[in-house]
Order: sequence, then C-alpha cells, then structure tokens
Amino acid sequence: MSTVELREVSKVFPDGTVAVDRVDLEVGDGEFMVLLGPSGCGKSTILRMIAGLEDASSGSVLLDGAAAEELTPKERGVAMVFQDFALYPHMSVNDNIGFPLKVSGVAEERRGDQIREVAAALGIGDVLGRRPGQLSGGQRQRVAMGRAIVRRPKLFLMDEPLSNLDSQLRAELRAEISGLVRELGVTCVYVTHDQAEALTMADRVAILRKGVLQDVGTPTEVYGKPATLYVAAFLGSPRMNLLEAQVSVALDRHVALRFGEQEVHIPWDDLRARHVAHYHGERIVVGVRPEALTPVAANTPGDVLRGRIRHLEHHGHESLAFLDIGATAVVVDEMAGPAATSGPPQGGWRGLVRKLSGNGTRGAVTEQPALEGGRHHRRPADVAVRLAPYPPVGPGHPLAVSVKVNALHFFEERGKRIDVGWR
Ligand SMILES: Nc1ncnc2c1ncn2[C@@H]1O[C@H](COP(=O)(O)OP(=O)(O)OP(=O)(O)O)[C@@H](O)[C@H]1O
Ligand SMILES: [Mg+2]
Repeated sequence: MSTVELREVSKVFPDGTVAVDRVDLEVGDGEFMVLLGPSGCGKSTILRMIAGLEDASSGSVLLDGAAAEELTPKERGVAMVFQDFALYPHMSVNDNIGFPLKVSGVAEERRGDQIREVAAALGIGDVLGRRPGQLSGGQRQRVAMGRAIVRRPKLFLMDEPLSNLDSQLRAELRAEISGLVRELGVTCVYVTHDQAEALTMADRVAILRKGVLQDVGTPTEVYGKPATLYVAAFLGSPRMNLLEAQVSVALDRHVALRFGEQEVHIPWDDLRARHVAHYHGERIVVGVRPEALTPVAANTPGDVLRGRIRHLEHHGHESLAFLDIGATAVVVDEMAGPAATSGPPQGGWRGLVRKLSGNGTRGAVTEQPALEGGRHHRRPADVAVRLAPYPPVGPGHPLAVSVKVNALHFFEERGKRIDVGWR
C-alpha cells in the first residue's frame, strides 16, 4: 500500500521563483493521479519533491501517512520515469531493464524471470537482445517503463513520459500505461501538459496554474464542473466559449444574461438562477461549451443567439463555425498552448490587439486582474459552434444557435465558479 499527501507544500527557489504555492493534495492507494498544467506551472517540481530529489521550502510531504523529509530518494520506494529518459546505449534491452535489479543485488537467475515477465507485459519480449539504438521511439519508451517497473516500486512518478513520441504512438501508449499501472495496483503520479492524456488516463486530475492548485477531481468532475475560469478555459477542445454577460433579474420570472444586444434567460425555477441573481446589474463570465449550442432555424423562439459566421475550420469528422454574435470574450492569459483552436496565432494576434486602446470599439481590449494570480482580458468573441462536416455555409452567412441553458457555466469576473452545492 502506498499513499501520498502534500500538506501546504511550497517551493521557493533561491532566486525567488515561487514554483509551488501551498499545494494540498492527497493521492489514494492505487490511484492514478495526473498533474496537469501549462509549462512552468510547477508539475515537475512537485514530482521531484515527492521523489525526494528536491526539498520543500515549507509544508510537508507524507508517504503512507508518515513524514518523508528524512527519507532518501532510495528509501522512498519510488520509481521515476522522465521525459528524456536515458537508456544505457551499450547495454541490451535485457540488461537495461535488469539494471536496477542488478544494483540492488538480485541474483542473475532470478533477474531473468523478472525481466521476461515485465518485457512480456510491455510487449517488448522479442527485442530483449537488441540495443536501444536498434529500437523505435515507442519501444525505447517501453524499455524505460520496464526499468521503472521491474523493481516493483510502491509508487510510480512519471514526468511527461510520452512527450517525445508522435501523437499516434502517444495515444496507443497512454491506454497501455494506465492499463499496466492499474493491473499492478501501484499508486501513480503522472505529469503532463496534455489534457487529452490527463482526461483519458487519470482516476483524478489536479490542475495547476503558476504553482497554485486550481482544481482536483475525476475527469468528469473537472470537465463538467470546472472550479475556476482558468480550469474552464484550459479543458476541452475546442475550448469553452467564455463570454461576458450583463446580469439582470426579472423577479420570479428569470435571470437575463445579456451578451451585447442579445439575451438568454435562466428560468427562475433553475436553482442556479438565485445564485446568479446576486450579480444583478453586474457582469459575470458565462461559459458555453460548443456542445451546448445547436444550430436552429433563424426564426426559432426561445434561448437563441444569432450572428454571422466569421470563419470555418474543417476537421474531417466535423466542422467548427466561429460566430460573431456581438458578444465580448474573456480570454484567460497564458492559455495559448497547443490546444488553441480558433483564429490567427493567438500570441501574436493578442499581443497586437492588446496594444490598441479605446472603449467599446472592435478590437479594444481591457486588462483586468484575476484573483488566482493571473490575468484575463477581453476581445470580440468568436463563438465556436459544432457543425456537420463541410456544411453548405461559409464566412458571412447568418447562423442561429439554440443555447442549452442548463449546460451553461457561471463565473465571477475574478474567476471563481458561481454555483450551488457543486460536487
Ligand atoms: N532550479 C531552479 N531555480 C529557479 N527556478 C526554477 C528551478 N527549477 C524550476 N524553476 C522554475 O520553477 C517553475 C516551475 O518549474 P517546473 O519545472 O516545475 O515546471 P513544469 O510544470 O514541470 O513545466 P514543464 O511543463 O515545462 O516541464 C518554473 O517557473 C521554473 O522556471
Ligand atoms: Mg516539467
């Protein structure tokens, strides 16, 4: 059995960089926990503190309920797999996998059996005699995994182990790795900045931003009810549309959300209406995943938003329309990672518009501080809508979409979720 607990763990490097900021996290026995976040958010630092390769500046790391500070990395019984894993180039696959057994004094006869067992589980039983230089990238990664597994560690720590591989192989290995780790019943903390990896592999996901833990939950929880605007913006492809809305209450009838010139209504009997009603006369951020928008005929009554298609993206199995509905988008900074889907290259475009000034004119952007240590700003919204592949419409075409109001997400402008009894 093996559990990990971080209690208010911080890491401040000597140059003053706060890499990890008061993180509380519990990983249960046999659990597959994924740490997810953009580059520099502190994922590797957390892993290295669990492994004992780095000391926490404050707070404590507990392994199996006991403080781990005094334990050396070796005494912690952890096996770590890194992104840039190094195999011994002059040794065979067999000897690479068996190396940890050899240094811990396991007799040669017993080593053979253990190596073959692990190699078979990883599907590399037939290349044991080769050297790393004679393997494919995926095979090399399996050898690295094999070397970590062979000692039957109590805890696996994996730091972006798939990031050097092409996307096809990554998708294959992700199922294999999580399957194997679960079969072994070993607790695992797995680091990635790839949300698809996190959502497919994890029992639970912990999402970090600038060293601060934003949210922890099962993939369904963090995707379905993100705790903060940041998590909402980070998870999902295409990303959630985040729109600024003006709130006004029609007592006992509905709460109106105004996007530019258009409105949708939260019915009064929807429990969330009372919570959003507290923001009467103020602006909030409304999150709309593309799956909450359905194209409808232009004259459809009810909660319908109308606009014109600004551009289309064809993805083969579907097309995405980006719709100008005259609304304002809230853009969470440092989100322009690989999953960015819409429009021109985000960094460049954003950098450019941010320089423009003025109020209420197209392209005007105002910055405002967000509570969770980052910033977000506004720009004219391109609302992503899913369409059937290669639709008979193009840029400039009008499009109406009905809004599934019970699938909307509400956030305060400073980033906190507005909701009732969430999770
Ligand atoms: N030895 C160090 N001295 C000073 N700052 C450091 C040191 N190591 C890491 N950092 C900083 O701490 C922060 C967190 O780094 P960390 O390596 O944990 O990020 P990460 O989430 O693993 O990023 P990536 O996805 O790029 O690997 C970064 O800002 C990084 O520059
Ligand atoms: Mg890292």
